[in-house]
Amino acid sequence: MTTTSDRPTADLVETSMADFVTGHPGLRYVFFGGKGGVGKTVMAGMNAVHLARSGKRTLLASTNPVHSLSGLLGQDVFGKPTAVTGIDNLWAYEIDTRDAIERSKREIREKIQWFLKFAEISTKADEFVEAATMNPAFEESAMFENMVDLMFEDAYDVYVFDTAPTANARRLLGMSKVYGLWVEKMLKSREEAQTLREALSFTKKQEDDPLMLYLVEFRERIRHARELLTDAERTAFFFVTLPEALPIAVIRRFIDWFTDFGIPVGGVVVNMVIRPEAGEASPDFVRNRIEMQSGYLDEIAERFPGQVRAVVPLFDSDVRGVPSIAKASAAVFG
Ligand SMILES: Nc1ncnc2c1ncn2[C@@H]1O[C@H](COP(=O)(O)OP(=O)(O)OP(=O)(O)O)[C@@H](O)[C@H]1O
Ligand SMILES: [Mg+2]
Repeated sequence: MTTTSDRPTADLVETSMADFVTGHPGLRYVFFGGKGGVGKTVMAGMNAVHLARSGKRTLLASTNPVHSLSGLLGQDVFGKPTAVTGIDNLWAYEIDTRDAIERSKREIREKIQWFLKFAEISTKADEFVEAATMNPAFEESAMFENMVDLMFEDAYDVYVFDTAPTANARRLLGMSKVYGLWVEKMLKSREEAQTLREALSFTKKQEDDPLMLYLVEFRERIRHARELLTDAERTAFFFVTLPEALPIAVIRRFIDWFTDFGIPVGGVVVNMVIRPEAGEASPDFVRNRIEMQSGYLDEIAERFPGQVRAVVPLFDSDVRGVPSIAKASAAVFG
């Protein structure tokens, strides 16, 4: 039996990221989540390079309002999908948050104005627009819409999403469920109101109730998004952690939530693991860190059995620039 301090970290990985990808030939939507600063952007980048190198047209997209894809790649990929220099089949895209939000606001304004007019309510739309767009979930919802648009566009073989710190993702998933219920309710009451209106006015059935049409379309969009997001053949969420208490606790919660929502969890990536060899000729500080990480690696093995897809070493410098990502990707994902 190996002791904690000399157990090779590779033991943690039963099915590697590369094997997972090979075993899921229909994989199209890949997400990376986890606590702030654990390496989501770097892992998404490394994974996207791996997929592109396997011959798939890959889009690496960031829905994170605090962007770092351009920084990671050393190339401006803001605002539109941009071919990544040096890697065939790879495009990257930092979604313009402000633009997405402004567009959502305009759409909401139009819908509200339309509804007020339709319902013959003579109130100004502004207050309603304000109420609808001032809440904190609005920005996230706008980002979610943007992501869903990309997914529906079908322009790439694989999409790798570097998501916003995942507390938001949970809210988004929750929202998509609530939206669904809300739309059902709205539709039902619209139908009732319409029947009543028809009964009272003896007019023939109104075919073109714009709100109704909008709700039906919206419901279909959500249904489609949920269908894609819950399809284990096509979708996988990976959670990045460090061998430390807090990031582990965070991804445990996420994995539970995602499982509850029926969203397929692809597995766990453990990042910034100090190689045990590094401790041999090192000061106590490094040895102590290795010892501490080793304890948490045991905890990870216990808590996420069969789910660890990669154990990524702590490199001696930041992972930045295409050559550096490509090198790390080849070393870790094969
Ligand atoms: N294995 C590693 N070895 C060395 N440096 C790393 C490693 N993984 C990530 N880094 C560095 O750690 C920093 C944080 O990584 P990254 O930006 O990917 O985290 P993040 O989870 O996306 O952060 P945020 O939550 O802010 O989006 C970056 O400077 C990155 O280069
Ligand atoms: Mg990031």
